[in-house]
Amino acid sequence: MLIARAEKEITDFLAGFCGKRIGFVPTMGALHEGHLSLIEQSRAQCDITVCSIFINPTQFTNASDLEKYPVTTQEDIEKLQAAHCDLLFLPSTEVIYPNGFAIKEPYLLGTLENVLEGAFRPGHFQGVAQVVDRLLQIVRPTCLLMGEKDWQQTRVINKMLLGHTTYPTPTLVIGPTIRAASGLAKSSRNLRIPAELLPDAAALYHSLQQINSRIHEENPKDLIEAAKHQLLAAGFEKVEYIAVVEADTLEEKENFYEGDRLRILGAAWYFGIRLIDNISVTI
Ligand code: PAF
Repeated sequence: MLIARAEKEITDFLAGFCGKRIGFVPTMGALHEGHLSLIEQSRAQCDITVCSIFINPTQFTNASDLEKYPVTTQEDIEKLQAAHCDLLFLPSTEVIYPNGFAIKEPYLLGTLENVLEGAFRPGHFQGVAQVVDRLLQIVRPTCLLMGEKDWQQTRVINKMLLGHTTYPTPTLVIGPTIRAASGLAKSSRNLRIPAELLPDAAALYHSLQQINSRIHEENPKDLIEAAKHQLLAAGFEKVEYIAVVEADTLEEKENFYEGDRLRILGAAWYFGIRLIDNISVTI
């Protein structure tokens, strides 16, 4: 696996694969099975697989969250080598933001950036769009692979790609959420929860499943309220939101019709860590 830090190293390497399918998995490191499954999916669909590790300052609304973000670069390199990734892009902040952090014009993300995660992390999705846009300008992949666990992020990037023309638009491929046996979604932030408490953190996932199992019979508002109470009783410190939404627009839904594509999303704090999860619902 080649490790590249400069933009030119990436473009020189990829110039040798003209006409080949390039799969790209952007990450912030602290790699887990979710990331590795995206690498595997890229290898199955593409000729060359590129992964980036860059902890993007512009998507953190809280400076201490950025400081505490886990950094495990050596282990990440070993995992990527074992997964047969072809190229790791490890850029510095100067390579990604040569002209500073300011965005010339905000990305047109519509309501997607203000609801759910966006309501609790103002500016977060502008930062995500900014860094993914910049990475795509450099890597110019055929396929962009992202995890279903960050569902709202996939919708935001989908919207950004629809409005974009400065590089060939990659196909957005969404890989399934990978879960521990307890049901807890794999996440880099889980590294900050003591191992013995990890199974209990799966209560967020179970609460979403419970809503899903009763959504045909009961009012979603009541189900959501009950789920919030259960999580607090199970030791969660705070539930920021649980919502049943249309899968693409993320509009909250109370009435459903056959064929509707819905998602249930939630964010809650456990052991001082903010966890998010989501599942799909088929009506
Ligand atoms: O999902 C993440 O790890 C990040 O938001 C991403 C897409 C790598 C952008 O920094």
